[in-house]
Amino acid sequence: MMGFVVAIDGPAGAGKGVIAARLGAWLGLPVFDSGLLYRAVAAAVLAAGGDLDDEAACVKAATALDPADLAGPALRSAAMGEAASRVAVHPKVREALIDIQRTFAAREPGAIVDGRDIGTVILKDAQAKIFVTASPESRAARRWGQLRQQGEHALFADILADIARRDARDEARAAAPLKPAPDAVLLDTTDLSIDAAFDAARRIVEAARARSGQS
Ligand code: DC
Repeated sequence: MMGFVVAIDGPAGAGKGVIAARLGAWLGLPVFDSGLLYRAVAAAVLAAGGDLDDEAACVKAATALDPADLAGPALRSAAMGEAASRVAVHPKVREALIDIQRTFAAREPGAIVDGRDIGTVILKDAQAKIFVTASPESRAARRWGQLRQQGEHALFADILADIARRDARDEARAAAPLKPAPDAVLLDTTDLSIDAAFDAARRIVEAARARSGQS
């Protein structure tokens, strides 16, 4: 790995996406949202009338994935997030999606990649690793706002329950469970504005850049 790579992991709604985007703009690096891969696999399986618990069907969809499949607002729905979490438990699906992520990150001048297992499995050599968390209540509140902006109206209690279920599944699965890498810096955004969260992330990256001699 030659470029500068930032791995951002954490549960849904903690602020990974916005932090990744702001870091990408600041560093001039492309951003890869790995959750879209699992969402796209889930969407393809459902479109083919398949079963999300059928590992072989999910692997088939993962192997046939096209970059064009990662676009479109439909993937960003709450239902697709839940479906993606179910698809993501299958070890062979995760395996089938490794290359696409590593290839993206290997390109000069580097990349920001966000997900659940980027610092622990996909890009263990990333120069900077951030594990972004926030309380389930604040994550649910943010998700509620995002969904509303997308024209999706959901009940706060349903979103909170969805988040708890997704956290439990993502943390409990045997293959690449959601957890901080030993060398990740924790960033709790519960009481932080977007600007403050970005500032904290920028300081973490600056320290990592100084360490890796790329500042
Ligand atoms: O980040 P997201 O909400 O788009 O992710 C949707 C689901 O995909 C998440 O609940 C678990 C799975 N996922 C994963 O297992 N590993 C990743 N690197 C990214 C997402």
